This record gives sequence, structure tokens and C-alpha cells, in this order.
Amino acid sequence: MPEVFFPRLQKCGVPVKPELPPRELLPRHLAIIMDGNGRWAVKRGLPRVVGHRAGVETLREIVKACLEWGIEILTVYAFSTENWKRPREEVDTLMELLVEYLQKEADELHRQGVKIGAIGRLYELPEKAQRELMRAKELTARNRKLLLNLALNYGGRAELVDACCAVVRDVLRGKLRVEDIDERVLNSYLYTAGLPDPDLLIRTAGEMRFSNFLLWQSAYTELWVTPVLWPDFRREDLLAALHDYARRERRFGGIK
Ligand code: FPP
Repeated sequence: MPEVFFPRLQKCGVPVKPELPPRELLPRHLAIIMDGNGRWAVKRGLPRVVGHRAGVETLREIVKACLEWGIEILTVYAFSTENWKRPREEVDTLMELLVEYLQKEADELHRQGVKIGAIGRLYELPEKAQRELMRAKELTARNRKLLLNLALNYGGRAELVDACCAVVRDVLRGKLRVEDIDERVLNSYLYTAGLPDPDLLIRTAGEMRFSNFLLWQSAYTELWVTPVLWPDFRREDLLAALHDYARRERRFGGIK
């Protein structure tokens, strides 16, 4: 079969075969910072919220690809603890999009074997969003094909603060001894308790920062940043990231 090039990658001179890398070289846990919705809309002379709506479409496509390609966990940064600083209209639209997404997609995701999860200070979300989230989580709780983990009102620092408070409470109650606290124990107090750390973190729209996403969990996560704005991000971009990841040597601070 002749080697096929993806046009976007060809531009950067990176040949990528269209097949999926071998399964054992795929990330188990993929995390994505879905950035660039606003810029996508502004470039087109449209209100920023149109970009978020387009971003939901991309999320649909990427969830489908993850399902097909056997990724076990997909954690997406949908709303940060800092995003409340945005204009009221934008925050409201993001919350409405979340409710709409859950109402429209939960049944189909359930049918496809997706378990819906969420991390963040969920109790601060609007009640309607909390209700839909609860419903979707309960509906899909026994699914095992893909965990779609929505980071909502999530901040890596807030998560560490919450974990510390929970640790202190357990110490004061006599459920935990200070001398028993280690990385494994602290990990079990995080929103992501029980999940493996992300293997690959993709950030769209070119910014080279973590923006308070999965700070503890990303200690040895492989990063992949693309200039492509989230609404333009396609399976071919994900495939390119997966190929790049498959070529990397992960040493976790050790030597080969
Ligand atoms: C960052 O783009 C994106 C967000 C703050 C929200 C991401 C949300 C979605 C993709 C859709 C909603 C998700 C669900 C689960 C329904 P930005 O607005 O910061 O873009 P900019 O940097 O170009 O301004």
C-alpha cells in the first residue's frame, strides 16, 4: 500500500501512515486541553460561543475515534475553575452546552459502552448541569469500553487543596496516620483516584502551558501541542499525535 500523507502534516514535513500504531503503543489514558474555540469563532467574525458549539462537534468526533481505537480513558478539560471569570453570557452558554450534550448524547454513549465520569468541584455547577451529570453517570456507570471523563469546574490546584483537606480530616478522625501518607495515599484522595495517570496530553491552539490541568497526574505525561484550533481538530490530528506518542521513549526519570 502506498504511503499516504495527511495534508496538514505534510505541510510540516511529517509523514504519517494512516494506520493506527500497534495497540500496545497507544496511550491508555489520553487527556485533552480543548483550546481555541474562541479564536476559531473570532477569525470568522462570529461570537465566541459559536466556537464552543463547534467544539462540541469535535468532541463527538474524537470520542468516537477513541472508542474505535480502543483508548481506555479520555479526560477533557471542558471548564476550569478560572473560566468563571469569562463574561456571563459565555459561561451560561458553556453550561447550556454541557446540559445539551448530556441530554442528547448520554443514551447513545451508553449504547456504545461509554462510561461518563466527571472531575472537579461539581457541586458548584448550576443545578441543572449537576442533575444531568448525575443522570448520565448513573446510566453509564457499568460501561467499560471507554471512560469519558469531563473536567468541569476543575483546577489542578483546587484538586490538591481538596485532597489536603480530606487527608487532614481523616487524620483528625483517626482514619489515617501522618506517617502513612505517601504519594500513593495522596493519589487516592484526588478526583482521579483509581485512574492511571494520563499517558498523553494533547493541547490544541498552540499554547505551551498546562493551565492548571491535571498538575499532579501529569508529572510524567507526554505532551503534544498542535496549532490546530479545537473546532478544526480532526481524527487525522489525533492519529498524528498517537503516532508521535508511539515513537517516544518513556523513562519516568530512569534510564533505558
Ligand atoms: C477553550 O477555548 C475552551 C473552553 C474554555 C471550553 C471547552 C468546551 C468545549 C469544547 C465545549 C463544551 C464541552 C462539553 C463537554 C459540552 P477558548 O474559549 O479559551 O478559546 P480561545 O483561547 O481561542 O479564546
